[in-house]
Amino acid sequence: MSPVDFCGIELAHPVINASGTFDAIAARRAFGDALLAQFPFAAFVSKTVTIAPRQGNPPPRLWELPAGLMNSIGLPNKGLEGYLAHDLPELSRLPVPLIVNVMGFSREEVARLVTAFARRDEVAALELNVSCPNVETGLVMGADPGEVARLMSAVRPLTDKPLIVKLTPNASDVAAVAVAAEREGASAVSLINTIRGMAVHPRTGEPWLGGTTGGVSGPAVRAIALAQVRSVAEAVDIPIVGMGGVTHGRHAHELIGAGATLVAVGTESFRDPAASARIASELALASGESHDSGRGLAGLQS
Ligand SMILES: Cc1cc2nc3c(=O)[nH]c(=O)nc-3n(C[C@H](O)[C@H](O)[C@H](O)COP(=O)(O)O)c2cc1C
Repeated sequence: MSPVDFCGIELAHPVINASGTFDAIAARRAFGDALLAQFPFAAFVSKTVTIAPRQGNPPPRLWELPAGLMNSIGLPNKGLEGYLAHDLPELSRLPVPLIVNVMGFSREEVARLVTAFARRDEVAALELNVSCPNVETGLVMGADPGEVARLMSAVRPLTDKPLIVKLTPNASDVAAVAVAAEREGASAVSLINTIRGMAVHPRTGEPWLGGTTGGVSGPAVRAIALAQVRSVAEAVDIPIVGMGGVTHGRHAHELIGAGATLVAVGTESFRDPAASARIASELALASGESHDSGRGLAGLQS
């Protein structure tokens, strides 16, 4: 498939991973050098990094849906210092550009994260996860155009690296948030993040998930992702990373048709860690190109 230019970064094809859904360090341990030789994504997006280490939410953390998954993982991570010391050296050995996803609970926290990664040559771009409340205002940053505008104007001057704003679908007007991000210098937007949902314990009637609510992903959200990508594409000129329920190249093709430049695969990678390579090949066929990077990946099948 033809290479794709994304914010000045050349990628071999348009399929990347969705943050938090593929642990490249664990996969490297499980699959060895085969993973590096046949890496399934054109760029690697890390799971969300926060300033302080996080344990994540109490279990249970997952609930299977008829057509997807609901998670309340709660963003466990080693924190900025732990990531820089342990994860970054390993992830910088991957054969594709590295995009680091960060989240802060205030503009100052996001600014500290952006500043820390701005000076790291291993990092090609940053993705800002704005699906959390700002502790100063109580507003979910990504649900409010004003919050996103203030965040972007605070962090845009801190780095020349591409800044991708990961939009939350739990906003009343996602396109308005995308416009605010673009106006204040976002290089790209990515969407959709998970959609808030809840499951009930079949015996107690209490919420099943340790975090009470969780994020719905997988095929169940695909139609919503398509609609949101299309409405954002009509509102902004910056590139879009489309995601949500992609399990086949056809779905990637549809998101690109709706206006995405890149497509990210999330939940499907839990079912098959090599799914993205297959999806990239199917996408090439759907786009009328020939592409063989998805062949010979049987060694990566779980
Ligand atoms: C188990 C799990 C963990 C996730 N962790 C993160 C995360 O750390 N940061 C983030 O921005 N999005 C996270 N996401 C959201 C995905 O990146 C993606 O936006 C969403 O799942 C939709 O894509 P999908 O339907 O292909 O999974 C997570 C999703 C799942 C299912």
